[in-house]
Amino acid sequence: MRKIEIKVPGNSYPVFIGSNIFNRFHEFKIFRKYKSYFLIVDKGAYDNHTELINDFYNQLSEKKYLHLFEANEKNKSFEELKKILSLLIKNNFGRDTLLVSIGGGITGDISAFAASIFSRGIKYIQVPTTLLAMVDSSVGGKTGINFANTKNIVGTFYQPEQVLIDTVFLKTLPRVEQICGLGEIIKYALLIGDDFWGFVKHNLQMLLDMDKKIIEDVIQRCVQFKGDVVMNDEKEVTGLRKILNLGHTFAHAIEIEQKHSIKHGQAVIVGITCALHLSNKLHLLNDIGLEKYLPLLIKFNDEIKIQNFNSRKLYQLMKRDKKNRNEEIKFVLLQRAGQIAIDVEAEKEDVMYALENGLQYFKV
Ligand SMILES: NC(=O)c1ccc[n+]([C@@H]2O[C@H](COP(=O)([O-])OP(=O)(O)OC[C@H]3O[C@@H](n4cnc5c(N)ncnc54)[C@H](O)[C@@H]3O)[C@@H](O)[C@H]2O)c1
Repeated sequence: MRKIEIKVPGNSYPVFIGSNIFNRFHEFKIFRKYKSYFLIVDKGAYDNHTELINDFYNQLSEKKYLHLFEANEKNKSFEELKKILSLLIKNNFGRDTLLVSIGGGITGDISAFAASIFSRGIKYIQVPTTLLAMVDSSVGGKTGINFANTKNIVGTFYQPEQVLIDTVFLKTLPRVEQICGLGEIIKYALLIGDDFWGFVKHNLQMLLDMDKKIIEDVIQRCVQFKGDVVMNDEKEVTGLRKILNLGHTFAHAIEIEQKHSIKHGQAVIVGITCALHLSNKLHLLNDIGLEKYLPLLIKFNDEIKIQNFNSRKLYQLMKRDKKNRNEEIKFVLLQRAGQIAIDVEAEKEDVMYALENGLQYFKV
């Protein structure tokens, strides 16, 4: 089992990575520390791993509750948050409760948000069950829900007590969710640099075949990198953490404009493709760089389908992005793998150019 320590100001927590480690939960101190446990479990994960999750639940101390959550962007909402908070209150859970989130990024984000506001904050842990959640969303403490047609606009920064990454969950992950995880992995490859980019490219098939060592290496590399960024800019104030949003200004707008017919991780792939075109148009990324990085992004274009899109609406949606200041869209762009430019402003016509050029690979 591998262990990474995530350090944030005044706090630190472990991320454990391994195969078949969730069923060894007795070995983790945290499961002996609490008197009551409130589980929020992604229904997709539960249906595929019922016995494993039931075993875990049955062996917890007496006071416990299991809430099944249907993970989709529509349910990342105030309504579902209210249901969670009501269940916590109705069943007399207090501040001594450990909230355990088991699921993908949607389950993790809403669970963590509930933990951060219930009783002014209770402790929680993340047990990610999708590739995307393992390499990215389960670490770093960004919590939230969607509201007013805007992704993740209501939320908090609130770190977990522990993250337990068991790759056994990946065995049942549908192909589309693998591609979603790959979207964030490609993001990390571009953020980290050419050595990790080369590693991902070279081992792509083994990664999709869920090769145990490759997958753990990739998770470890992404989590370590994110941990280092979060350590230096936990609440996105110095600007460093913004690099994690590479491609996301485009991606969030695309998700909304396409009415969530494509998933977040797929939108990240399309969004990074647009971001690379914008980087090239603004002379940050040269033609050689663009040609080097594009093939991996468009490799799965027949599995990511963008319906008729409206570039003007996409542009308006991007103006709502949380990173913006004074109505100007602030982009995170690429100079080369490992070298990122933040807070880049662009003329509307250059953004339109990036949208048209980036989206063309994915049009139905
Ligand atoms: N907080 C952060 O830092 C952060 C970072 C990146 C993304 N996100 C958020 O994460 C979300 C996307 O997360 P996601 O890609 O994990 O999607 P998801 O949570 O929608 O899960 C994808 C699907 O897989 C199913 N599933 C989960 N585990 C499974 C398993 N082991 N086997 C079979 N099916 C399983 C789920 O039921 C769901 O239908 C987005 O809302 C995004 O905004 C947050």
